[in-house]
Amino acid sequence: MKQNTIDHAHRLLTARKPDWSLDQPFYVDSDFFDMEMELFFNRQWLFAAMTCEIPTPGDWVRVDIGRESIILLRTKDGEIAAYHNTCRHRGSRICLAESGHATRLVCPYHQWSYELNGRLLRTRLMGDAFEKDGFSLAPVAVGVVGGYIFLNLSENPPSFEPFRALVEAYLLPHGLDNAKVAHTQTLVEKANWKLVIENNRECYHCAGSHPELMHIITEFDDPNDPNVSPEYKALLKKKDAEWDLLGLPHAHTENNLQYRAVRLPFTGGMLSMTMDGKPGCTKLLGDLTNADLGSVRLLHLPNTWNHILADHAVTFRVFPINAEETLVTTKWLVHKDAIEGVDYDVSRLIEVWSETNQQDRKLAENNHLGIRGRAYRSGPYSDVIEGGTRDFVRWYSEQLLTALDPIVTDQAMEQSA
Ligand code: FES
Ligand SMILES: [Fe+2]
Repeated sequence: MKQNTIDHAHRLLTARKPDWSLDQPFYVDSDFFDMEMELFFNRQWLFAAMTCEIPTPGDWVRVDIGRESIILLRTKDGEIAAYHNTCRHRGSRICLAESGHATRLVCPYHQWSYELNGRLLRTRLMGDAFEKDGFSLAPVAVGVVGGYIFLNLSENPPSFEPFRALVEAYLLPHGLDNAKVAHTQTLVEKANWKLVIENNRECYHCAGSHPELMHIITEFDDPNDPNVSPEYKALLKKKDAEWDLLGLPHAHTENNLQYRAVRLPFTGGMLSMTMDGKPGCTKLLGDLTNADLGSVRLLHLPNTWNHILADHAVTFRVFPINAEETLVTTKWLVHKDAIEGVDYDVSRLIEVWSETNQQDRKLAENNHLGIRGRAYRSGPYSDVIEGGTRDFVRWYSEQLLTALDPIVTDQAMEQSA
């Protein structure tokens, strides 16, 4: 991290107008990006993959975050583990494909091999004196809840438990451990990752940009939002009573601006996020028998939002590539026993969100291009309809400033000593 970047970022955040967008360097500057990855992003719990993507021991997926690469795998004991994808010999990447199955991990450079628990198993031609102990793959912290796998690149991650405790009951009825990925959409958006999240956290733009989405959902995702209409309030009351009888949690619950869960009904009698509102998959998730469960909206900043319905789930994962490019991965999940062509049709299942994602991509990219210009100045978020974006940027700024404060204080003390 560069000294002047730390000072510059600290100055800008300290002087930041509350609830206005960030200053230009936070969106476009590669030194700011490196600093942000180290002090902020890599310290957060990040949504990485679903448990159903690695169902059997030896299954693995590779997850790349900025310059980091992580192997997520299912151990022999059926647990989920994660390791840095960096060989302990001379540092080569070990897993080069996006996913696979292995009884042990073999580095392609000089064939050092590792057990699924990360221990170095075998080497060639290292001499009799070589001790394999102490050369295990570097572990990465993992948190699992309701079929979701999160990881944390920090050496001292905060507890995953509060998030797990808050959202687990919303997720378990949907049985995502026993789902499968019906389709994956991968977009490399030419926009800073925060603009992707900022765009997601408001629906100010929805009426003008999302015709497919707006015939299903409302512009708000909090039942207490001042924009909730009397008709929607009545619908909420009716559906909440039904869900209470089914024992399904629905209340809006959140923690410290960073994460929340809520179950909300769809409008217009729709059952699912399809163009005609009918289920996208006739075989429902888990052991569910009622198709009319609205969607659980699961948010965990800084990198995921989700819709978990009765018939399918849509997961969204955001990973920064660099200051000006972001990987956005969307997965549609259905029951693992659902049969394509019989229970679901992929094009019908994905239509609403694959269109919506392309529309959002253009919005984020145009936003990024405008911010790159010399006329860009920070602008105000609307309290009426951009509360989610305001909260995200407020949370991000507080987190980053908290990480920067002691560094700047230490520097000041060193200089005065
Ligand atoms: S770098 Fe992996 S075996 Fe040499
Ligand atoms: Fe959008």
